[in-house]
Amino acid sequence: MRIDTYFTVAEVDPPALESAVVVVVDVLRATTTLLEALANGARGVYPTASTEDAVKLAHTLGRDDTLMCGERKGARVEGFDLGNSPREFTREAVEGKRLVMSTTNGTRALTAAQHAHRLIPCAFTNLGAVARVAQGAERLVVICAGREGRYAMDDALCAGHLLRRVLGDAEGELNDASRAARALAGFRKPSRRLFELTDGGRALLEIGLGDDLDVCAQVDRHDILAEMRDQVIVLTGD
Ligand code: MLT
Repeated sequence: MRIDTYFTVAEVDPPALESAVVVVVDVLRATTTLLEALANGARGVYPTASTEDAVKLAHTLGRDDTLMCGERKGARVEGFDLGNSPREFTREAVEGKRLVMSTTNGTRALTAAQHAHRLIPCAFTNLGAVARVAQGAERLVVICAGREGRYAMDDALCAGHLLRRVLGDAEGELNDASRAARALAGFRKPSRRLFELTDGGRALLEIGLGDDLDVCAQVDRHDILAEMRDQVIVLTGD
């Protein structure tokens, strides 16, 4: 099994994704949040690269059952229905709704990888479900959304724990970033305390959203697999 991990989206070569199972990770917080929404009954999540694209798409889909969500600098975009805090995406808020989502890093990573053979959003909250599917892949690519074009430790840690579950004791054919992520996961587990030390976690603490870190650190909170098909992310079986 060949596994390539990328710590930033800029490193990704899009044509190389066409034959791969591609996992996109944005622990703080886009993939954690969209998985929370789907677990709570949202019909689908449409990631968009910009807030302008989100507004246009929401109007095309029909505003009655479409929510616009996302953040800039961590806070809800003005005029949007929801921000990017997983705690906002309750069953009451999202059941039966379509969500159009624009975030600084996560939805951009998802749109950049949209031509993948299979595109699977991953967070600590659905790690086990993603690992089960990834185990069957001949070629696996793990894309960390990172933070403003830079390495994010929370994403690398999630990639590493995914690889540990996928590979077990096997060696695999790994690029250096995969080896580094797997090594990191050997001595760190996700926790609110650890995330508070990361750049992304500190930024959330500064705007009063530190409690999001508790949700983002919960391993296997949901046994759900989601997949992006025709530009919309929906729940799917294995
Ligand atoms: C992103 O996609 O940029 C992040 O999820 C940022 C955030 O949640 O504040």
